[in-house]
Amino acid sequence: MDFLELAKKRYSCKRYQPDKRVDKDMLAKILEAGQVAPTAKNSQPQHIYVMQSEKALKLVDELTPCRYGAPVVLAVTYDSKQQFTYPGNKYTSGEEDASIVATHMMLMAAALGVDSCWLNFFDPDKAAAALQLPENEKVVLLMDLGYAAEGTRPTPTHEKTKPIEELVTYC
Ligand SMILES: Cc1cc2nc3c(=O)[nH]c(=O)nc-3n(C[C@H](O)[C@H](O)[C@H](O)COP(=O)(O)O)c2cc1C
Repeated sequence: MDFLELAKKRYSCKRYQPDKRVDKDMLAKILEAGQVAPTAKNSQPQHIYVMQSEKALKLVDELTPCRYGAPVVLAVTYDSKQQFTYPGNKYTSGEEDASIVATHMMLMAAALGVDSCWLNFFDPDKAAAALQLPENEKVVLLMDLGYAAEGTRPTPTHEKTKPIEELVTYC
């Protein structure tokens, strides 16, 4: 499958088979795809928490209604002390870095046939408290991973992209 096909095939899965776990080696590949993602000045401020124990999944369920039965949830964080501050001191890289890392992992998962959903429907402060993170570590997103329950389809909006002319300007 070429890359564009894969990018089109990926969708946000909102119903998983709770008992079908993600194989350890596949999970390792997904995490490695995050490891090699670009970050500003190669600062690599990210950290990934693999939440898959009963206790960890219970914490996820207390934070968000969006686990959808996934057997693994990744929490993607960054350390504000390790992120890059862009010249001019107006912006920092942490959220961008974590998002690129997460995107790499999401597409690696898709390439391996593992379904996923990016989640921001939670309170990041409560998530940080649940993970007992230090003050400087921020939670950017949670990512469900698993295998779609039978009959699960992409949401109807999955294929509703704006026209390319609206999204792109050649200058
Ligand atoms: C930044 C971001 C935050 C999202 N947060 C949630 C969420 O909290 N809960 C959820 O069910 N889906 C969430 N999604 C999934 C989107 O709803 C989904 O990507 C979008 O509707 C497009 O559908 P598709 O991914 O199937 O193409 C999020 C996606 C992104 C990129």
